[in-house]
Amino acid sequence: MWNERYGTSEYVYGTEPNTFLVAHAKDLAGPVLSLAEGEGRNGVYLATLGLEVHGVDGSSVGLAKAQDLARARGVSIRTEVADLGSFVPEEDHYGSVISIWAHLPGALRARLYPHVVRSLRPGGVLLLEAYTEAQLARDTGGPKDLDMLMSEDKIRRELPGLEPILLRELEREVDEGPHHAGIGSVVQFIGRRIE
Ligand SMILES: C[S@@+](CC[C@H](N)C(=O)[O-])C[C@H]1O[C@@H](n2cnc3c(N)ncnc32)[C@H](O)[C@@H]1O
Repeated sequence: MWNERYGTSEYVYGTEPNTFLVAHAKDLAGPVLSLAEGEGRNGVYLATLGLEVHGVDGSSVGLAKAQDLARARGVSIRTEVADLGSFVPEEDHYGSVISIWAHLPGALRARLYPHVVRSLRPGGVLLLEAYTEAQLARDTGGPKDLDMLMSEDKIRRELPGLEPILLRELEREVDEGPHHAGIGSVVQFIGRRIE
């Protein structure tokens, strides 16, 4: 389904980075693991700031566009086609992990998230933005599946190895391509790996 969605010359989520990421990019250290990197807009942005980026996604089509975008911006990023349902990141390696609109089933998150926490160096941070369960009532983006939508409560329960630096639910205007357009109910999280 994702290869099909990305199978157009347009960048479906745009080429500009997610605005929550931009607002907090100064707090990120490399190397950065980008979960569900898609067409590269976030990883490429971080690479332009001088950070080393490893973007992982299940869509080969999306990641090929990510490499095109990196070339166009004169930076390089490492991309890896992998299913996050079985992906195991290197331990104690990343300064930061980002997860932007990486909506995944609860059972997949239960396997992946402990690996994500362990992939951070002590003191490293996870930055995440996702639509919340309240988004089900809206038509402005995100999956129509409660299990794949997030909340403050799910983040606290599923990522106990991270100390929240910022954790909030809010409504905000999202302008990130036709699938993510309009007022959205989102949760934003920055958590630091407990040493
Ligand atoms: C809504 S897009 C977000 C893309 C990117 N993070 C962005 O903000 O532009 C969700 C992405 O999750 C990826 N994805 C969904 N399930 C996945 C899985 N099980 N393994 C790897 N990637 C997955 C899709 O291929 C898609 O690129």
